[in-house]
Amino acid sequence: MPEAERPVPLADGRAQGRITFEDVWFAYERLPAEAASGEGGLATGDSPPDWNWVLKGVSFDAEPGSTLALVGHTGSGKTTILNLLLRFYEPQRGRILLDGVDVRDLPLTELRRQVGLVLQDVFLFSGTVAENITLGDPRVPRERVEDAARAVDAHRFIERLAGGYDQPVGERGANLSLGQRQLLAFVRALVYDPAVLVLDEATSSVDTETEEAVQRALETLLDGRTAVAVAHRLSTVQHADQILVLHRGGVRERGTHQELLAQGGLYRRLYELQYAEQERAAA
Ligand SMILES: Nc1ncnc2c1ncn2[C@@H]1O[C@H](COP(=O)(O)OP(=O)(O)O)[C@@H](O)[C@H]1O
Ligand SMILES: [Mg+2]
Repeated sequence: MPEAERPVPLADGRAQGRITFEDVWFAYERLPAEAASGEGGLATGDSPPDWNWVLKGVSFDAEPGSTLALVGHTGSGKTTILNLLLRFYEPQRGRILLDGVDVRDLPLTELRRQVGLVLQDVFLFSGTVAENITLGDPRVPRERVEDAARAVDAHRFIERLAGGYDQPVGERGANLSLGQRQLLAFVRALVYDPAVLVLDEATSSVDTETEEAVQRALETLLDGRTAVAVAHRLSTVQHADQILVLHRGGVRERGTHQELLAQGGLYRRLYELQYAEQERAAA
């Protein structure tokens, strides 16, 4: 069917925000021919041989309004899952659905309207605070910007800046603290009010006071929307409705924080390595 004649699901209004991965296989690249056919290839079991698979049959279902946390070692495929959900890449096999609709059947503009992105490295450009929140879109009223900023308690720090919302932000936000940049990214996401939020949490820590502000802001941001989050904060994984523990491109374990701790497997080891430190720091 030609693109123009396809029905446009979800075109009127906001998605509910159910996110489903169905047996998703993904590779960024093909293997060199000799690796694919030779003994070093992946020609075993049900692993199709000639791709360098990064995800090997990932499935999950995130209910509207729930938080799904992705954890796992560096390189286990967490960011790749976010990239696929946003359709920066497409899986070679399997399907990704928003409210039961294959994301390939949604116009990209519609997908990007429903699925908001908050990145690990907050991207700020040279422009004012307000422009960084609205992405320079003059149709977003100032009132909406301020309401969003109030909701995540960023209004107070913005008002204290000499120029307030019209204060120029330096190159990459150089004149703002890391915590302030994170809050601005949350305000930006709130202004667009997507049904689904894709979050790649920052690994760099901020001071305790700012961290508390960021956590409160995050709770507000996640309220009433589905979140798929690469989680580095203990508080995010503790509150997640579902945690997927990725290992070598597959889902090794899944459950809640308490369930996975009790299993005493990979999650427990990751927790002891990565999160127990945060728990001690918070205590
Ligand atoms: N753009 C890319 N091109 C090729 N390989 C990539 C690309 N991005 C990531 N990879 C590879 O895919 C695997 C999973 O990466 P990633 O999803 O970033 O893991 P994580 O976010 O869990 O650290 C890694 O082996 C990584 O080297
Ligand atoms: Mg990553």
